[in-house]
Amino acid sequence: MNPGTGPAPDRARSFSLGVGAYAATRPGYPTTAVRWAVPREARTVLDLAAGTGKLTAALVGLVPEVIAVEPSDEMRAELVRALPGVRALAGTAEATGLHDACVDAVTVGQAWHWFDAASASAEIARVLRPGGRLTVLWNVRDESEPWVAEFSRIVHRGDDLADHFDPPVLGPGFGPVEAERFSWVERIPTAALRPLAASRSFLLTMPDDERDARLAEIDELVATHPDLAGSEADLPYVTRAYRATVS
Ligand SMILES: C[S@@+](CC[C@H](N)C(=O)[O-])C[C@H]1O[C@@H](n2cnc3c(N)ncnc32)[C@H](O)[C@@H]1O
Repeated sequence: MNPGTGPAPDRARSFSLGVGAYAATRPGYPTTAVRWAVPREARTVLDLAAGTGKLTAALVGLVPEVIAVEPSDEMRAELVRALPGVRALAGTAEATGLHDACVDAVTVGQAWHWFDAASASAEIARVLRPGGRLTVLWNVRDESEPWVAEFSRIVHRGDDLADHFDPPVLGPGFGPVEAERFSWVERIPTAALRPLAASRSFLLTMPDDERDARLAEIDELVATHPDLAGSEADLPYVTRAYRATVS
């Protein structure tokens, strides 16, 4: 499988390099956001670009059938290990390999910015049943917390793709895009901040010496910031969500 036909394909493909750190440290999704994403009557949901299954896991139990499509063999293998009951398929947003009109909803967590938006939009409209819903979500760290702002400054310094949370531009067939935000907090071990930083595509695709220098800055932040003095900390997130219905 060859993921990443959209912008920055090298970075889109880089997640395979950091599966363990991704699965261990990236956030899940709050139930309120997932309920908002999926119509109450939905029977089958496609989680597109499912990765290691962070959003997939939140869908399981809410809907009778969840299908995960993910191009990276390494990410998909972790999803299958964690969620053995989910049908997990190799495919991309631009070519899912699914039949026409076969799902009631499609979710995309933390991945729309990797897609070729026009092709993905057409493909999602094709696999959705009439009246079906697409929801695009991003977990965004809440930088009103000073240590979080400092963490983000270290991780994303020089990153052109750091801010990519705009509403998705959808093709023909979709109605207006509705937006919502969900604030929540994840309690994390402070030791997880280093692998969390290391799991970002920006760091995964850096030369080794640059990545080591960034991670040393994260270690310094964790060792010196008073709000990170304990073994755990509250990491605040805002989940930004956008949904639209296909006609
Ligand atoms: C940041 S991860 C998000 C994974 C998961 N949805 C989550 O919320 O944790 C981005 C995922 O998008 C996948 N991806 C990249 N380009 C893609 C494409 N064109 N079509 C489908 N998936 C793609 C990557 O392989 C990776 O697993």
